[in-house]
Amino acid sequence: RTRVLTGITTSGTPHLGNYVGAIRPAVAVSQRADVESFYFLADLHSLIKLQSPERVQRSTLEIAASWLAAGLDPGKVWFYRQSDIPEIAQLNWLLTCVAGKGILNRAHAYKAAVDKNRADGEDDDTAITAGLFMYPVLMAADILVFNADKVPVGRDQVQHIEMARDFGQRFNHLFGEYFNLPEAVIEEHVATLPGLDGRKMSKSYDNVIPLSASREQLKKLIFSIVTDSRAPGEAKEVDGSHVFQLYQAFASSGETDAMRQAFADGIGWGDAKQQLFERIDAEIAPVRERYQALIAHPQRIEEQLRDGAQRVRAAYATPLLERLRDAVGLRDLS
Ligand code: TYM
Repeated sequence: RTRVLTGITTSGTPHLGNYVGAIRPAVAVSQRADVESFYFLADLHSLIKLQSPERVQRSTLEIAASWLAAGLDPGKVWFYRQSDIPEIAQLNWLLTCVAGKGILNRAHAYKAAVDKNRADGEDDDTAITAGLFMYPVLMAADILVFNADKVPVGRDQVQHIEMARDFGQRFNHLFGEYFNLPEAVIEEHVATLPGLDGRKMSKSYDNVIPLSASREQLKKLIFSIVTDSRAPGEAKEVDGSHVFQLYQAFASSGETDAMRQAFADGIGWGDAKQQLFERIDAEIAPVRERYQALIAHPQRIEEQLRDGAQRVRAAYATPLLERLRDAVGLRDLS
């Protein structure tokens, strides 16, 4: 079976970008008989942003509840928390020792942090932790520890998957064929979901629509999306329109064609936003309801996560690490 793996960093409240970019496609794929799926909460990655411990814990609960509310079945999918798999941290070190520093220098997140320092007149590495720099190696460990074939992600993560291939390949070259080289899978019609201000919807930009937003909040947020001042009756461009892009991520292709025509016919922004609101609400109302029920019982979620970690370690991670330790020479002396 094809192995599909993806994770979400536990650094905030899950939003519609996570839902359309990761959760929704991953849950759909997990229902196929020819697929074995691995979905997890990237809590070690969340430490890079140095948040409050309470926030990390709360976000872990919210993201777990979102996966389950979106239809993930923990009886059929490997569902776990990254920090419950110590083999990931162990593999992280083995990969650190083969990862080229020059490749890590080119990682987008690190480069953006350096560029910001330069723009602010600081030294290149001011306030940049080794954790941020090493982020792609930890992510490679997440993927390679289960020898994933496909990794469904938003476009922002593609470079990281390419790095995982590179590190896996180097390890294989040095020690033998232990790793399968993973491929990124991107939902073409959503790619990057815009946020309220038109930039990528992201926890760091404070422009998100939470997946658990109530109907009222959802409506308020959608009506706050920034639009140009073209009047009703004037033809509107679909290219570059955030309202259109959001609509497209939730609509069928027939509905999208109809909206494209409505734009050409000069639909008013109020009407377009009302249709967008109804479309999104129709899809997420049941998710929201299940989410509220699940989040009321953190103990049940905790048990599911622990159970998932224990089973997936025994099935894959522990035996693989034994082989890898042997491969690199961390061996019994007798
Ligand atoms: P994270 O937590 O930033 O995002 C989780 C997933 O949501 C996608 N995503 C989006 N997709 C479309 N439009 C958006 N506006 C949007 N915002 C977020 C992301 O592309 C991602 O798929 N490093 C990863 C987590 C991670 C991981 C992994 C993923 C850790 N280890 C191994 C895959 C495999 C991250 O921070 O994603």
